[in-house]
Amino acid sequence: MSASRGEFTSRFGFILAAAGSAVGLGNIWGFPTQTAGNGGAAFVLVYLILAFFLAYPAFMAELVIGRHGQANAVTSLRKISNNSTQRIFAFIVGFGGIVCAALILSFYGIIAGWMMSYAVEPVTRVVGLTAVGDWVISQSLARNLLFVSIFMFMTVSIIRFGVEQGIEKWSKRLMPALIIILLSLIGYVMTLEGASEGLQAYLLPDFSRVLDPNLLVSALGQAFFSLSLGTSVMIIYGSYISRKENLVTLGAQVTLIDVSIAFLAGLLIIPAMYVAQASGVTIFGEDGSLVSGPGLVFSVLPALFDGMGSMGVLFSFAFFVLMSVAALTSSISMLEGPVSYVVENHGVERKKATTLIGIFILMLSCIIVFNLGTLLDFVATLSTEYGQPIIGMLCCIFVGWIWHRNNLLSELQSGYEGVEHSLFWKIWPWYTKLVCPLCIGLVFFNSL
Ligand code: TRP
Repeated sequence: MSASRGEFTSRFGFILAAAGSAVGLGNIWGFPTQTAGNGGAAFVLVYLILAFFLAYPAFMAELVIGRHGQANAVTSLRKISNNSTQRIFAFIVGFGGIVCAALILSFYGIIAGWMMSYAVEPVTRVVGLTAVGDWVISQSLARNLLFVSIFMFMTVSIIRFGVEQGIEKWSKRLMPALIIILLSLIGYVMTLEGASEGLQAYLLPDFSRVLDPNLLVSALGQAFFSLSLGTSVMIIYGSYISRKENLVTLGAQVTLIDVSIAFLAGLLIIPAMYVAQASGVTIFGEDGSLVSGPGLVFSVLPALFDGMGSMGVLFSFAFFVLMSVAALTSSISMLEGPVSYVVENHGVERKKATTLIGIFILMLSCIIVFNLGTLLDFVATLSTEYGQPIIGMLCCIFVGWIWHRNNLLSELQSGYEGVEHSLFWKIWPWYTKLVCPLCIGLVFFNSL
C-alpha cells in the first residue's frame, strides 16, 4: 500500500503544507479578534506560552503517530495498539478526529465563502457593477449557498490531485503569496494615523489579566485550533513525511511559523482598528471592550477601507484575498483526513472519494446555511471546543500510555540520530504522558 501513497517531496514542501493547514482564519481572524476581546497583550503572552508548552507537544504526538503508521488516522493509531480493546479505542479516536475535521470544514467553508465574497466586491465596484457588489456582501441565502459551493469546489479540486500535485504544489504557491500580502498590508497600515496607539494596545500587557480562567481557556482553544490539532489532520500529514526527516525540528518550525503569522496578523488587525477609530469608526462596544468576532472583520474593517478612497478598494481586495488564501490552504487539510481514510480503508479511488466526500460535506454546509442562526455556532462549538481538545488529549494518551517507549524512541530516531540524548527526549515523553492530558483536561472542564 505504501508504494501508492503520496509523500511530500521535500522538507520545504511539508513545512509549507503543514503551515498552510495551521495558518488559516484562526490566525488572521480568530487570533486578533480574541486578542481584542481579551485585553490585548495579556492574551498574546498567554497564547505564546500555551502554544509552545502545550500545543507543540500535542502536535508532535500527532505527527509521530502518523509518520510511524504511514497511514490514515485510524490505521496509524491501530498500529501502536497492543490488544483488541486498544484497537477499538484507536478506531474511536481516529474516526472521531475524521468526523471532527469534516464538521469543521462544513462551517469553515461558509465563513471562507464570506471572505471570498468580500474579495469579489471591490472588483465589482471597479468594473462598475455596484448592484452586484451590494448583493455579494449582503447576507442572503443565495449568496451564502453560492460562495460556500465555490469554495468547496476549489478545495475538492486541489485534493483530487493528491499529496504532491495537490496539497504540496498549491501550498508552495499560496503560502508565499499569503506572507507577501500580509507584510505589505502591515507596512501600509503602519503609515496611517492611529496605528501607533493600536500597537501599544497590542504589545503592552495588562498583567493582572494573565491568570484569568476565561483568558486561559480561550488561549488554549485558540492554540489547538490554530495547529489543527485533534482532528486527525496532523496524523495524516505526518504520515506523508519521509523517514529521513527530523520530526522534532520540523514540528518546531511549523509551530513557529504558525505562531509568527498569528502574531503578524495581530500587527495588522489591531492597529487597523485604531486607524479606523481615528477616522471616526466606533471600535469599542457598549461594555467598553474592543469590537471582536464577525463585527470586526465585516463591519469595522470595511468601514476603514471605505474611508480610504481608491487605496481602500485595493486594500480591501488584498485583505480578503489574504483571508481566502489562508482559508483554502487550511480547508484542503480538513478534507484530506476523511479522504485518506476512505481511500485507504475502503479501497475507493482518490478522485471519486474526494468528490463524494466533498459533496457530502457541502450538503452539511447547506443545512447549516439554512439554519445559520442556530447551527453555525452549534457546529463550531461542538467541533472546536469539545471535539478538538478531547481528541487531542486522547492522542497524547496514546503516545504516553499505550505506545511502547522503545518503539516511540526508535520512530523519533529515524531522521534524528541521537534524539535519546536531546533535551526533547528528556522532557517531551513526560509532557505527553502527564502534563498535556492533565492541562488540557483541566482547561476543558473549567470551560464547561
Ligand atoms: N488551523 C486552521 C486555522 O487556524 C484551521 C484548521 C485547519 C483546522 N485544519 C484544521 C482546524 C483541522 C481544525 C482541524 O484556521
